[in-house]
Amino acid sequence: MTASPMNVSVIGAGHVGLVAAVSFAEIGHQVVAVDENAEKIALLLQRVAPFHEPGLPELLEKNVSEGKLSFSAEIADAVRDAEVVFICVGTPARTSGEANLLAVERVARQIARRLDGERGPVVLVQKSTVPAGTAGRVRRAVRLENPAIADRLEVVSNPEFLREGRAVQDSLEPERILVGADSAHAFEVMRRLNRPLTDKGCSYIETDIKTAEIAKHASNAFLALKISYANALARVCELAGADVVQVADIMGADPRIGRSFLNAGLGFGGYCLPKDIQAFERLASGWGYDFPMLREVERLNQEALEGTLRKIREGLWNLEDKRIGLLGLSFKPGTDDVRLAPALELAKRLLREGALVVGYDPEANANAKEELSDLQIAVDPYEAATGVHCLVVCTEWPEFRELDLHRLRAVMAYPMVVDGRNLFSRRDMASAGFIYFPTGRPPVDFDAHLRGAPRVDVAAGPP
Ligand code: UGA
Repeated sequence: MTASPMNVSVIGAGHVGLVAAVSFAEIGHQVVAVDENAEKIALLLQRVAPFHEPGLPELLEKNVSEGKLSFSAEIADAVRDAEVVFICVGTPARTSGEANLLAVERVARQIARRLDGERGPVVLVQKSTVPAGTAGRVRRAVRLENPAIADRLEVVSNPEFLREGRAVQDSLEPERILVGADSAHAFEVMRRLNRPLTDKGCSYIETDIKTAEIAKHASNAFLALKISYANALARVCELAGADVVQVADIMGADPRIGRSFLNAGLGFGGYCLPKDIQAFERLASGWGYDFPMLREVERLNQEALEGTLRKIREGLWNLEDKRIGLLGLSFKPGTDDVRLAPALELAKRLLREGALVVGYDPEANANAKEELSDLQIAVDPYEAATGVHCLVVCTEWPEFRELDLHRLRAVMAYPMVVDGRNLFSRRDMASAGFIYFPTGRPPVDFDAHLRGAPRVDVAAGPP
């Protein structure tokens, strides 16, 4: 899968930009990635990935060695010969919930200033998740900044659908590629750029810019909505004594519904869903459409965290002087990203209520400690469990499934586990002698535990 090489530059070497840069090099293009963070560029020049993403270190090493990928802190270096320039800078939420697009505007203006009036056309591609209408603002900013190149610069929206933790795979084997543009030349350039990927048969959608921008919001908001629906169902199941995992399996067997993103738990976090849902709501409201469903999705996400807290409080009574262990600190497995991680939000709340909190994560320990210095960090899951009155599963890392439950039970002060990701089976937890509170599933509660006969009770119930 190689392309007729094109000169590509990528501005912003974060989760989206760096993965895009590495992937475009891998499919045969000549890529320069730029980031204003000099430390990050220094790491990349030594071929070190600045964050955890499976497959990234190998592709970084390979493509730098082959001379297809280089790095710079200078936008001028990157855009001089580029046929396509990707804007992949961060778009954090403002306190109002709106996306902060200052970095996008700055980069667009810098690019415009550094382009030579004599050069050939450049396609400026917006890949960061941005509110619909941003491409139009970028075009205007470019025109104001450098009228001489305005006619040679075409703006494209190419929203990214990759997931952290499988970003490289998503990027090299995408399910869909979405291109919003308004010129035949821009469409042609994007087709040429993506040909090695489309040759493999992924769905390739060309549309107008606004539709592309809205489709990205609509997709992330719908994923968030599915998760919040599952979390509301979990609450209903807890009250009714049913099992939300089985309910989701049964729903998911209907292809119209689908099983994915129906996992109830601590709620959704990360840099995308929480901020995108807010931004979409603000945007719709700005256009004059009230979208209360999106506010409800957010409220239910908060409620999911509250539900877990409630179980910890119910189990432990007062939290002062209690030691609580957290398994998993990243916002989901497969990443070291702790941005808006439910685990850290929970840790903050527990610390505020006077508990001592110790956490362990296979990849995110350092990032978690940096974000929350009062959190103690353990070197492995057993150390995180040692002496705790309650252990909380916050992130469903696959290796946690392999833990020796009897060993875990033996090091804990109280045998209590709150499972915010339904990682363990009720039967195994009962057999190992735990008081066990899963999410949206029947617990092994105090009574069952004290009766000393959980195995008999559980045999009849769901796993
Ligand atoms: C999300 C989208 O899935 C991507 O398609 C999109 O490209 C990306 O945002 C983006 O806009 O950049 P990501 O943030 O990597 O990707 O994470 P997800 O896999 O969507 O998970 C988000 C959160 O939802 C995690 O905290 C996860 O634990 C939670 N989740 C997910 C659930 O609580 N239940 C589920 O069933 C699924």
